[in-house]
Amino acid sequence: MNNITWHNQSITKEQRAMIKNQNPCIVWLTGLSGSGKSTLANALEVKLHELGYHTYLLDGDNIRYGLNSDLGFDEKSRVENIRRIAHLCKLFLDSGLIVISAFISPFKEEREFARNLVNKNEFIEVYINTPLEICEQRDPKGLYKKARNGEITNFTGITSPYESPDKAEITIYVDELEKNVAKIIYYLQNNILRK
Ligand code: ADX
Repeated sequence: MNNITWHNQSITKEQRAMIKNQNPCIVWLTGLSGSGKSTLANALEVKLHELGYHTYLLDGDNIRYGLNSDLGFDEKSRVENIRRIAHLCKLFLDSGLIVISAFISPFKEEREFARNLVNKNEFIEVYINTPLEICEQRDPKGLYKKARNGEITNFTGITSPYESPDKAEITIYVDELEKNVAKIIYYLQNNILRK
């Protein structure tokens, strides 16, 4: 990279985290559209907040309204979407927060990229393993119907691939919000968080 210089800052990630009395981490939710990522991410943030943790939630649809409004759903755009999100997550992590991210993030390579940007114990991949048939039945935004009719191209699970994780720290199989939140909190409290 030409003509740019990395500046070291006086306050470290550890100091930012210590004042919040927690160990920061990224809880990376991945799964099909309609799998329940946003609902679970939101409920998880509510619970962590109630418990006194400092959090931030990054959600696919919302980020695509602003920061990534220039990106579509072809493979190249999705790669760029996740590249930016991964760096964004790292910045929030650096600020000492527990970051919850909810993006389809369909490609293994990009999820690995996000994982490898941070330390080993700072990235928790949560696979929302809701089968395609159920997501399609739910079709909360009517997008599966449009994809089947050919009104939307590159739709994940229909005309664009989803590569399931094979080493996610947590896999969610059933649609029981409270239990799923508890499962993630249990993992975090036993492996990551301090308080
Ligand atoms: S990702 O594949 O690049 O990670 P992201 O999570 O940001 O996707 O956005 C997914 C959301 O965009 C879906 O929940 C859905 O509401 C909307 N969407 C619109 N078009 C598509 C498409 N072709 N494939 C998947 N999701 C789409």
